[in-house]
Amino acid sequence: MKDSPHLEKIFQDARSICVLTGAGISAESGVPTFRGGGGSVVWKGMPFDEISSARMVRENLDEVWEWFDYRRNILKDCSPNLAHYILAEWENKFFDFTLITQNVDGLHTKAGSRKVLELHGNINRSRCLQCEKRFQMNETDIPHKPEICDECGSRVRPDVVLFGEFLPISVYQEAERKSSQCDLFLIIGTSALVYPAAGLAEVAKINGAFLIEINPEETPMTSLCHKSFRMKASQALEFLRRFVR
Ligand code: OAD
Ligand code: ZN
Repeated sequence: MKDSPHLEKIFQDARSICVLTGAGISAESGVPTFRGGGGSVVWKGMPFDEISSARMVRENLDEVWEWFDYRRNILKDCSPNLAHYILAEWENKFFDFTLITQNVDGLHTKAGSRKVLELHGNINRSRCLQCEKRFQMNETDIPHKPEICDECGSRVRPDVVLFGEFLPISVYQEAERKSSQCDLFLIIGTSALVYPAAGLAEVAKINGAFLIEINPEETPMTSLCHKSFRMKASQALEFLRRFVR
């Protein structure tokens, strides 16, 4: 690639690096994305952002669980791919490395990343609607268990951020702080349509970071980025890996 020397220097000089990932990084593991290819997921005739919404939790929690158990069932057969593994490796190679994900699939952790800022929660965790006690589910418990909180007897819901809900504040604040301080920011496999997550790339840019996008498709973030790789995550990261010692 003709601009490799430039990229090499960017990587060599980077003291602090942030990576923001989205569903696309798990696509090569067999996890379906929500958007891309000109379409978006529909579940039982409902757009996914309707079934994944705070309103649906209030109105039809059974259906919300059906949707999440369906996704958990796909995920139980999925393993991390090369892109997840390379990022896990980079955690040990940079002086200051922050991995921020919108994904709830837990694949970064499975690949060996020790610290992951999960902006949207985790699909294998549930929490009580009443007392907010959290439960770690077994991947193989499908449908989910428990159904009822052992503390207060209320129903539990997926511990995932749904449309119409706020992000976990301390996780978001750390992601924002790190994004504002980094000198290299990678945005990988996200349609960059969902805020505030997508805004982290803007925070990094305003504060002077070099922005690299990895996505087979153009996104609203493309024009902001200094460099875009129109490639799959694993291909682009394998290319960039040579600059990281
Ligand atoms: P999307 O499904 O919106 O976007 C996936 C992106 O990945 C698209 O831009 C694809 O072009 C790209 N892509 C596909 N295959 C790829 C590959 N092999 N390598 C790299 N990129 C690839 O997913 P997100 O941007 O993560 O929220 O969606 C954001 C949020 O919307 C999700 O976290 C989820 C959803 O509602 C919650 O669950 C709260
Ligand atoms: Zn409870």
